[in-house]
Amino acid sequence: MFTLALSCVLLANGCSNLPGKPAPGPKVPRPESILSSHVLYAQNCAGCHGRDGLYGPATPLASPVYQSLVDDAMLRRVVAQGEPGSMMPAFAKSAGGDLTDAQVDAIVRGMRADWKTGDALAGAGVPPYADDGKGSVKAGEQVYASNCARCHGAAGGKIGKSGSVLNPDFLALMTPQGLRTAVIVGRPDLGMPDWRAQMKGKPMNAQDVSDVIAFLVAQKPALAPERTQGQQANQGAAHQPKMSGGVR
Ligand code: HEC
Ligand code: HEC
Repeated sequence: MFTLALSCVLLANGCSNLPGKPAPGPKVPRPESILSSHVLYAQNCAGCHGRDGLYGPATPLASPVYQSLVDDAMLRRVVAQGEPGSMMPAFAKSAGGDLTDAQVDAIVRGMRADWKTGDALAGAGVPPYADDGKGSVKAGEQVYASNCARCHGAAGGKIGKSGSVLNPDFLALMTPQGLRTAVIVGRPDLGMPDWRAQMKGKPMNAQDVSDVIAFLVAQKPALAPERTQGQQANQGAAHQPKMSGGVR
């Protein structure tokens, strides 16, 4: 066995030295054989989530707060199946993507190993990751006005220095969970505080978060099924932001 392998190597070397023979190209591994989380992340995720999990247009996955907020099962589900209704693609072959289950697992394990540093939430009373569906649009409008408007601009007013989060084109590409994650985790890389420092330096509680998400979701262009549930109360709200052209 050993001699056979050796003679192959010698033969290969010998051949590649023949004049005129093109040098062998770099060995291209079969895509399914790549199990390095760093390579997989760079190839599949960095474009949207940033090279090192920060400073990308999408969720700052490298935030220790984010990594403490979520569990492995949830990460695996989102990476495998994507977030329908957003730009987050499905990666598992079983969901039409390019990655094997082993590769999805490798990415999840890599994110945890690289970015989950202890428990970043210890004792901090973090609002739950998932919404309980009990947010009030009207209360959320208040939460928005007193906490978000200073950076994102008042509803119906000028766009703030951090860009509009009420723009229907933006909202159309975000799921309620994506918005909720942003409010809890913030953008530590880009200057948005997490839930702890939102309310004039005081933490937002779970109800504040659900309320402001209900308000944002109510500004989504028509189509969003969330709008049909229990949000009639807002239909006559005075301000209906000018930017929300799609809102009936
Ligand atoms: C101190 C300023 C500041 C405050 C206060 C603030 N944000 Fe932000 N927010 C930012 C910045 C900066 C970004 C990143 C903008 C960019 O992508 O360049 C951001 C991004 C976002 C995003 C997009 C996140 C993403 O990953 O795509 C959402 C949604 C958002 N903010 C919602 C809110 C809501 C709701 C509130 C109030 C509860 C709020 N923000 C309060 C500064 C702020
Ligand atoms: C084309 C851009 C794009 C690519 C590529 C992409 N993502 Fe995302 N991802 C997003 C967006 C946008 C969201 C927020 C979706 C929403 O609104 O819920 C997101 C959400 C997520 C979330 C859930 C965030 C939350 O709210 O808890 C995880 C986890 C995630 N992505 C991981 C990955 C990983 C790992 C890869 C690579 C295998 C990847 N993404 C590739 C755009 C992308």
